[in-house]
Amino acid sequence: MMKGIILAGGNATRLYPITLAVSKQMLPVYDKPMIYYPLSTLMMAGVREVLIISTPIHLPAFERLLGTGEDLGMKFEYKVQEKPVGLADAFILGADFIGNDSVALILGDNMLYGSNLEALLKKASKLKTGGLIFGYKVADPTSYGVVEIDKNGTAISIEEKPENPKSNLAVPGIYFYDNNVVNIAKNIKPSARGELEITDVNKAYMENGNLKVIPLENGYAWFDTGLADRLQDASDFVKAIEVRQGIQIACLEEYAYKNNWISKEKVLDHAKKYSKTEYGKYLKNVVDQS
Ligand code: DAU
Repeated sequence: MMKGIILAGGNATRLYPITLAVSKQMLPVYDKPMIYYPLSTLMMAGVREVLIISTPIHLPAFERLLGTGEDLGMKFEYKVQEKPVGLADAFILGADFIGNDSVALILGDNMLYGSNLEALLKKASKLKTGGLIFGYKVADPTSYGVVEIDKNGTAISIEEKPENPKSNLAVPGIYFYDNNVVNIAKNIKPSARGELEITDVNKAYMENGNLKVIPLENGYAWFDTGLADRLQDASDFVKAIEVRQGIQIACLEEYAYKNNWISKEKVLDHAKKYSKTEYGKYLKNVVDQS
């Protein structure tokens, strides 16, 4: 079985003063809290047990927002990260939660959207051995992990924020690993910027010929919302699609229902709770049209 981790900590200093008192991953992306988007991505992958990691100050707000997960037919656990020592720390903090399973990590500020995404993620979550990441072509990849692949989609180089990138393929913040990731994370050393880098985890898999890269073709949208402009872009994107098509992106109950994790009645309960919003109306449609 594949478990999921959402990393939703950090100080978000690039969004000050917005994030002086509020967690970045709690900020609205158009009409929903940011964390709904990565959570829905894990749900699309069929991941039902999720560990949410955040700072000592912000973690309680996530517990208030998401609860035990029971309402979605899921199971949520929570873990404090005392200091933002790096993305790979998620696997050390999450070791007990992961147990003997494989795991998907998603960054709480990453949003993916695309028509074939669900099928792609469901396939990724079947991973038994090795690591699997995505590659997304961007004009300027220098502020991301950058991966270079051979014609079989196997990684041949991966670097964190390279000055002279070897490819245009940036690595989005969603990663699938087998159970070895816990040991790999425990054995990597902090980088020059003092962090346990996810890129070093990926390097370890790559060096064993075990890092698969799926390039996301044109037609997928990927946002990371760490800067005010990017956050606005993500909101504009969600609004454009939702209003034009009359749909909801990242509707948690919809995925829970489609995955057969909750009943019709449960969805209708939620629809009632949100009846004053488009979200609530959409929930009713989800049931009516099924
Ligand atoms: O967005 C994708 C990129 O994310 C990848 O391409 C890079 O390879 C990866 O290193 C990461 O780069 P960033 O520099 O954007 O990561 P950042 O330090 O901003 O952290 C990403 C999110 O994770 C951010 O919302 C805060 C949270 N975080 C970060 C750290 C270092 C934590 O919750 N705990 C942490 O220790």
